[in-house]
Amino acid sequence: TAPELIRNFCIIAHIDHGKSTLADRMLQITGVVEPRAMRAQYLDRMDIERERGITIKSQAVRMPWEVDGRAYALNMIDTPGHVDFTYEVSRSLAACEGTLLLVDAAQGIEAQTLANLYLALENDLTIIPVLNKIDLPAAQPEKYAEELAGLIGCEPEDCLRVSGKTGEGVEAVLDRIVAETPHPVGDADAPARAMIFDSVYDTYRGVVTYVRVVDGKLAPREKIEMLSTGATHELLEIGVSSPEPTPSKGLGVGEVGYLITGVKDVRQSRVGDTVTNAKKPATQALGGYRDPKPMVFSGLFPIDGSDYPALRDALDKLKLNDAALVYEPETSAALGFGFRCGFLGLLHLEIVRERLEREFGLDLISTAPSVVYQVTMEDRSEFEVTNPSEYPAGKIREVREPIVRTTVLTPSEYVGAVMELCQSKRGQMKGMDYLSEDRVELRYTMPLAEIVFDFFDQLKSKTKGYASLDYENDGEQAADLVKVDILLHGDPVDAFSAIVHRDKAYAYGVMMAGKLKDLIPRQQFEVPIQAAIGSRIIARETIRAMRKDVLSKCYGGDISRKRKLLEKQKEGKKRMKMVGSVEVPQEAFIAALSSD
Ligand code: GTP
Repeated sequence: TAPELIRNFCIIAHIDHGKSTLADRMLQITGVVEPRAMRAQYLDRMDIERERGITIKSQAVRMPWEVDGRAYALNMIDTPGHVDFTYEVSRSLAACEGTLLLVDAAQGIEAQTLANLYLALENDLTIIPVLNKIDLPAAQPEKYAEELAGLIGCEPEDCLRVSGKTGEGVEAVLDRIVAETPHPVGDADAPARAMIFDSVYDTYRGVVTYVRVVDGKLAPREKIEMLSTGATHELLEIGVSSPEPTPSKGLGVGEVGYLITGVKDVRQSRVGDTVTNAKKPATQALGGYRDPKPMVFSGLFPIDGSDYPALRDALDKLKLNDAALVYEPETSAALGFGFRCGFLGLLHLEIVRERLEREFGLDLISTAPSVVYQVTMEDRSEFEVTNPSEYPAGKIREVREPIVRTTVLTPSEYVGAVMELCQSKRGQMKGMDYLSEDRVELRYTMPLAEIVFDFFDQLKSKTKGYASLDYENDGEQAADLVKVDILLHGDPVDAFSAIVHRDKAYAYGVMMAGKLKDLIPRQQFEVPIQAAIGSRIIARETIRAMRKDVLSKCYGGDISRKRKLLEKQKEGKKRMKMVGSVEVPQEAFIAALSSD
């Protein structure tokens, strides 16, 4: 297809504003999916995506659309909506010339609408404002058209009004894309350059890489090269998804499609990297490539220790599909053998954990999530700490923690409550704007560690669910942090150690000691539970002793009954773990580590 007849666009929206539903409708109206084959959220292929109703992996589909007798090819690139996947969103945007800015007409602009809009503006995309869900009785398209127009600087009449559910107004959206989105421009004779905006692992075909060709042409049977690593592969197949994969003779300037090389691991085919022709390679990579950097770490341990090899296999398999997942073996005195895993954010952690449990049938305990701390010692040596148990005992000069730029959008009545919450989480206010009379944007910088715990839940509960949140990395800053250990009968329990701000150390210690007191049954002797910073005890609880002699009930007498009771007691012990001299039931670990 000639570049003049191609339009590459994506849809950006806050979570649940109806992106997938609108995409489904477009597939239907352009005839690429027959009504018979249609199923809800056609593009969200993974079961877990469909169940949670969220899009994790972006995909591209080619749709034919005719305007004034000219046949155009519209490439729609679906983008994930959640903060953890911002990098994938930004790559998807870089593959497009235009975007639909989709806003729920009953909700208005939300934090991720804004965050994604800023990304789109950075990429110089043409923005087409669309109000969705106009079929809802609660929709207020007039009100939100004003809001949207004010935000992007257009007239309220320029905002399209559609319903992804009924299909109303969707054809007008396709016409607008053709009319307003610039066609791709590139050098057809230059060495090939294509940007990878997604790659997924397919059990039968290996890694399927989605690319947007910028210059030149890629054809089957060629040798291609990944510019960031110099790795070369043979191009076994190249084609377009419409939406089922359809092989083609090659992809030229501006075209969007997939390629298959037989590679088995998505990390060989990384989002943001540039693909070129190995015989005639381009020298300049397309901008923007960045290694996915894990931000949140957590230990994953099988509840049944014998599942450890199964957990390792499962992680190896997941990794094929998830370039951002990192892990290494970890041993915990309390929890046994497991893995220290790094994630892009909390949602990423939750998804990985859920997939491990669901797809691989594993029962797991995950330890409290931790961010990455940069520690400088008095002797100027430096290292990264992602696990509280690695926190150094020696003289520390400085600890730096990651901070994020946070945007909260809230109805104006909750501004006070949101400010209070942000301040309690060590937030520093950077600005506040009224998007309309009753909707406010608050900007804070905040330590990532504070957001990682329960910020989002608290934000939701303090605003009756109306506030929305987005954040992006903003470097790191020095902080007064300490490691709090929890000691059981004098022995530290590694799984409960945490790195916290000095002001919050006491509260953490009291909370953990209190929880454990209720969770650990009485032992034959008195067990102190202590929270400590170094050798200084900051909180203490005591589990009183109890002599639990099952045999005292049946003095002498029936020997078989005695044996039965002993057997029973032994069974009960199986699910116990010894921590030093204390028996702790497995459930106590799980309960103490679950955040509530
Ligand atoms: P993510 O993929 O998680 O970002 O969500 P999404 O933006 O793709 O939203 P999705 O299409 O899954 O829609 C979210 C919810 O809104 C679903 O329950 C849809 O049925 C509903 N919905 C989407 N479009 C419309 C619409 O035009 N009208 C009405 N009434 N409901 C809609």
